[in-house]
Amino acid sequence: MKDRIKVLKKERNAIILAHNYEPPEIQDIADLCGDSLELSIKAADTDADVIVFCGVHFMAETASILSPDKKVLLPVKDAGCPMADMITPEKLKTRLAELGDLPVVTYVNSSAAVKAISTICCTSANVLSVVNSISAPEILMTPDRNLAMYAASKTNKKIHLWEGYCPFHNALTVQEVENVKKAYPEAEFIAHPECPPEIVAMADAVLSTSGMLRYAASSKNREFIIGTEVGLLYPLKKTCPDKIFYPASLRMECPEMKKIKIEDILVSLENMSGEVKVPEEIRIPALRSVQAMVDLSK
Ligand code: 13P
Ligand code: SF4
Repeated sequence: MKDRIKVLKKERNAIILAHNYEPPEIQDIADLCGDSLELSIKAADTDADVIVFCGVHFMAETASILSPDKKVLLPVKDAGCPMADMITPEKLKTRLAELGDLPVVTYVNSSAAVKAISTICCTSANVLSVVNSISAPEILMTPDRNLAMYAASKTNKKIHLWEGYCPFHNALTVQEVENVKKAYPEAEFIAHPECPPEIVAMADAVLSTSGMLRYAASSKNREFIIGTEVGLLYPLKKTCPDKIFYPASLRMECPEMKKIKIEDILVSLENMSGEVKVPEEIRIPALRSVQAMVDLSK
């Protein structure tokens, strides 16, 4: 299957992008693995004709927003993000009508339709620079309340929250982290900003998934407790074979990120199936908020 995928990739001038949480065999076959920001930038810059996105639906949509002339394939079309489903454009419009017309910073983990009525997007890697790029003293952040609380703790802005969250990051408890810290007292604890504030407060560093990879590689420390989805353990071990990584909790596994199998990539490339295409009337306004983020981060 892998050989056939290689042949098809050449024939179709395709590139395979994979998120850092994808299973090892998917990361190994990908041309580029990364966090949401790196994958968005690559999707905007590639000269491939076809992008096979191994991740979840909002990531493929973001690629389609940035590269309308390319075919974007999501090999399993129902791989989604539960947090992205916690906001709709209708609900956002209602909230904005209540709050007054505030700038809206929307996490990329959201639908294209929500991005289309947002001021600017952000990812876990650039949230602070995005928030600080806005001149208004008051903003609404959607849909991740934990990411918004993290940003609020680092700026003087008044940040209104949206009550969304990642079910897997949000479930990490203080007790779990304390237990792992007790078992491995030499280890540094690094957490993703999708974790609740009481977990973020326990962390030595708060980073995106690729931020964690870079941090572990450059740290003098040998042991790390990882407060994010367990799929990151594979690239961590690959990047730093001489270091030791402990999951903060084995319950932090996102089943949506494990849906795509090698055979799905093959079928998708063979039949050009699983296309994700954002309609122009949504894409154009969504591009404004995604492009604003990409321009700020490049
Ligand atoms: P990053 O890889 O951008 O840190 O995001 C994590 C995530 O939850 C993606 O769904
Ligand atoms: Fe969404 Fe959480 Fe899964 Fe990321 S890990 S895709 S935020 S549900």
